[in-house]
Amino acid sequence: MEDKEKIAIEALKYVENNSIVGLGTGSTANFFIKHLALKTKKEKLNIHVVASSTVSELEANKHGLKLISIDLLEDIDLYVDGADEVTDDLNVLKGRGYDLVKEKLLAQSAKKFIVIADQSKHVSAIGEKYPIPIEVMKNSWRLTKKLLDRIGHGELRKNSAGDAFSISSAGNYILDYQFKEKDIKKLNEEILSTPGVIETGIFYKITNLALMITNGDIRIISL
Ligand code: A5P
Repeated sequence: MEDKEKIAIEALKYVENNSIVGLGTGSTANFFIKHLALKTKKEKLNIHVVASSTVSELEANKHGLKLISIDLLEDIDLYVDGADEVTDDLNVLKGRGYDLVKEKLLAQSAKKFIVIADQSKHVSAIGEKYPIPIEVMKNSWRLTKKLLDRIGHGELRKNSAGDAFSISSAGNYILDYQFKEKDIKKLNEEILSTPGVIETGIFYKITNLALMITNGDIRIISL
């Protein structure tokens, strides 16, 4: 079994009966969705789920999980998602799947937010491997970009075919930016104070637990 699937199964230990579970986006999160559905059926659990993206919604539906629409919720019990970067002090970068505003809403609204990731996601500092994703208002993105150009540089993200810009399920564009600022708290605040910015992929002090895996060996990061 590959590492991503094994770590997804590990996260099932944190699922409680009669709870609402948020579903993340990506290949690791997809394994979690599949195994959560199997566990729910096998143990006859009363679990409702909420999806962070159209993809996770389709996956949940495919596996027969009971979906609740995000607009009906005020909070959730648990949110489990993959990540693009994870540091030892439990800061996380997300958003390669571009639904980062929904992902952060669920992560921050959850009683517990657990990141599941293989060792390739471990970094010593956020921004080491990837640019910072920034979800911005579509109709005024040029103004927002120009303001962000004062502190960094980057581009609008294109779709995988490269023939159009990526659009989040909330209807926003995504910028991928690099910055000189290394203080991640300060950087996050600076980006968020830019008009037109809806959300950043920097998950600063939101994560309760990261379950990391290297060649089958699991390491738990908690503060
Ligand atoms: C979604 O926006 C991302 O944050 C994903 O959680 C991340 O890209 C992880 O993807 P994999 O599980 O496919 O590596």
